[in-house]
Amino acid sequence: MAKHDKTDIGISTLLNPVPVVMISASNLKGENNVCTVAWAGTVNSEPPIVSISLRKSRLTHDYVEETGEFVINLVNKSLAKPCDYVGVKSGRDEDKISKCGLSVYRSDYLEHAVAIKESPVNIFCKVISRQELGSHDMYLAEIKGIKADSYLLDENGRLCLDNARLVAYNHGEYYLLGEKIGFFGYSLASEEILKKRLGKT
Ligand SMILES: Cc1cc2nc3c(=O)[nH]c(=O)nc-3n(C[C@H](O)[C@H](O)[C@H](O)COP(=O)(O)O)c2cc1C
Repeated sequence: MAKHDKTDIGISTLLNPVPVVMISASNLKGENNVCTVAWAGTVNSEPPIVSISLRKSRLTHDYVEETGEFVINLVNKSLAKPCDYVGVKSGRDEDKISKCGLSVYRSDYLEHAVAIKESPVNIFCKVISRQELGSHDMYLAEIKGIKADSYLLDENGRLCLDNARLVAYNHGEYYLLGEKIGFFGYSLASEEILKKRLGKT
């Protein structure tokens, strides 16, 4: 069989890999919750807009509906297990935040939603629209502010996200991001730049 012979494998949500993040949200009573979302994406840069898709059955959906706010908490290696846990248990049954030993903090960016302190990067979002797609509701939200662990900034204040040990999700499994093999525009870069940024040409 030739290497690139193709087989039909049906229709599914197969786009991979995807980010896996923890969404924290709060209700108007000030109760906090967190759940896992893999269907999240960046959809616009000016203004910066993200999407997340949530089933109506999620407690997180109720909280986002109530306040129009949520926080995207990026997931690193040490958060991988808590991230999975908050994605298989509902806040309707237990306080997942304390169960996982997580803590929260509030920022000036949002009125209600809290962020997960242990996450290396917190992205504070305000909902601008909700679209009912079928199984999921897709929220578009504008990013109102971002906080990152200070150790991720170099001496010039540049964010070094490659030091965050982030996790991605691929076909039902979590992966630690590994080897850097390129960078934006590297196909056009000079040998000197390649050597500097990748250590090889
Ligand atoms: C890896 C992973 C990815 C998930 N992605 C989504 C998602 O994109 N949208 C969604 O509605 N639920 C997703 N879930 C399921 C919810 O996180 C899960 O139902 C959770 O228990 C909801 O919690 P809540 O009721 O406290 O909001 C995912 C779960 C896991 C483990």
